[in-house]
Amino acid sequence: MKADLPAALGGPVPGSTVLTLPPAPGTHVTVRGLAKAFGGAPLYSGFDLDLPRGRIVSIFGPNGCGKSTLMNMIAGLMAPDAGEILFDGKSLRDTRIGYVFQNYRDALFPWISARDNIAYPLRRSGMKAAAVQARVDELVALFEIRFDLARYPYELSGGQMQTVCIMRSLATRPEVLFLDEPFSALDFEMTLFIRAKLQEAQAAAGTTLVIVSHDLEDAVFLADRILLLTRRPTRIAEIVPFDLPRPRRPEAVADPEFVRVKAHTLAVFRREMSA
Ligand SMILES: Nc1ncnc2c1ncn2[C@@H]1O[C@H](COP(=O)(O)OP(=O)(O)OP(=O)(O)O)[C@@H](O)[C@H]1O
Ligand SMILES: [Mg+2]
Repeated sequence: MKADLPAALGGPVPGSTVLTLPPAPGTHVTVRGLAKAFGGAPLYSGFDLDLPRGRIVSIFGPNGCGKSTLMNMIAGLMAPDAGEILFDGKSLRDTRIGYVFQNYRDALFPWISARDNIAYPLRRSGMKAAAVQARVDELVALFEIRFDLARYPYELSGGQMQTVCIMRSLATRPEVLFLDEPFSALDFEMTLFIRAKLQEAQAAAGTTLVIVSHDLEDAVFLADRILLLTRRPTRIAEIVPFDLPRPRRPEAVADPEFVRVKAHTLAVFRREMSA
């Protein structure tokens, strides 16, 4: 009869409540007590995280540490074994999210044009044709699209396909946008372009952005916070703030603050690799 024991012997402490970590001020997404194991091997357990509203968080860590798994659990693409994920205290179902898949070549519908791919989530939401057209035109202007959107995905270059994927993900004005390795297959010119456009779109809409990257420069360049993960079983090694003013232009990579944050991030990463 544990409940009858005095507190010192393991009974309840008078007036105590279940201890849950309250979200930090300005938090949009709260992750508490997340657990996930594959084949009996724990990947995450008791994992807590706060994602700040309207900010860009990069997830960075060694291969196989669970970057994609973490993002997919938060985005509702993979069920956690335990834990709670809340968006402003609401569930995912009551939240508009966007997702850009790592493998953009397979992410677009091949049987409809690029324009119809971008319009697809708007049509599905029941939006009227004129409003759909207006929203797609807005995105075309924002992304300065000069290629023919009447073309089918297979007729586009890799960079063009990825641009279409990002436009589609932004179409419904998501509150939270998830991007898994959005730069991994882009050439340098395209990377600079997408970095600039993502910053513009994010600033215009105040979207909360979560980006997985395994390129250190990409991870740091866009981020307000770099979430550094350890090897599995995965914990947070450090959350590194990066407050360089926006918009960050390509030259920002030579800024002393960028160089400092990148060096620090690399040092934490290397420490974790040798731990
Ligand atoms: N569906 C699954 N079944 C079994 N194991 C899985 C599954 N998904 C992921 N894993 C394992 O969980 C770990 C984390 O995988 P995850 O893809 O999240 O890592 P990551 O950090 O994104 O890796 P990468 O840098 O290679 O993209 C890996 O060891 C992986 O093998
Ligand atoms: Mg991954």
